[in-house]
Amino acid sequence: MSSFYRDLKKAELHLHLEGSLEASTIHEMHPNISKEEVAAKYAEKGFSAFLESYKWVSVLLETPDHYALATRRLLGQLQTENVEYVELTLSVGVILWKQQNVAAIFDAVNKEARKSAIPCFWIFDFIRHFDLDHAMRVAELAAERARDGVVGFGCGGDEARGSALTFVPAFQLAQRAGLRLAPHAGETSNAQSVWDALEVGADRIGHGIRAVEDPALLRRLRQDGIPLEVCISSNVATGAVEHLLCHPLRRIADAGVSVILNTDDPAMFGTTLSEEYERAEQLGFSRDELRLLAETSFQFGFNKQVGSPQ
Ligand code: HPA
Ligand code: ZN
Repeated sequence: MSSFYRDLKKAELHLHLEGSLEASTIHEMHPNISKEEVAAKYAEKGFSAFLESYKWVSVLLETPDHYALATRRLLGQLQTENVEYVELTLSVGVILWKQQNVAAIFDAVNKEARKSAIPCFWIFDFIRHFDLDHAMRVAELAAERARDGVVGFGCGGDEARGSALTFVPAFQLAQRAGLRLAPHAGETSNAQSVWDALEVGADRIGHGIRAVEDPALLRRLRQDGIPLEVCISSNVATGAVEHLLCHPLRRIADAGVSVILNTDDPAMFGTTLSEEYERAEQLGFSRDELRLLAETSFQFGFNKQVGSPQ
């Protein structure tokens, strides 16, 4: 790969810690799991298979030390790529589902974040397959840590199984605590899912690529300055888009909607942020446009004290 992509100073805003676990780190945590076994799990295609693999890898994180190691490895890797600001999503909904101690895990990962040279903040995520009580519990935990590195609140999982509107009280609780909202929407579902996310007060949209199907929605995103966190390789691997060259990134950007490039689950999708910039070039972005994308990625970070270093 050309060093152009790596040398760009970049912010990464949509990155799940659990999806960053490399086969070598898993093998280090669980010597009985071979790297080949991990590679086979990660190679499965389609959105349902992805959710299953995500659950599988999350279950391997058994202790606060495992989470700390995952964070240390990830931040070390991001440094080699000139990532100079990061917001990591922690699947707190999954931690609750595993009946683990969220406070102990967050203390462990946040300690690693503070040691890093990269400004690193957190987004707590709930699972939309579960009910409102579950989402409220995640919102309360996020609110408790609002002055301790948590800057955002969101949701993941299968959009087809729950509209964001079901969870309005949880989003409101997070907002009252000063958190910003970044729900996944319009990834595998439809434009309506993005409208619902806007209605609950989303400040950024995770994925949002289905917005391309609705000109009125594209206008609204542009007018309100709501950016889409686009994850090209993820969309290809999960089948959210059929093929790289069918990806709507170019059309969305041409409609004047702000976009940010991200990796989503870099180990699972075998990508890096630098490679995502390369993919965007394959979709017709010039190097000047890529420089601009990298510069503006900082502007959408939820921690406003941290601006672009450029
Ligand atoms: N979409 C839905 N759920 C997820 C994702 C995603 O991109 N990443 C991790 N869980
Ligand atoms: Zn995601």
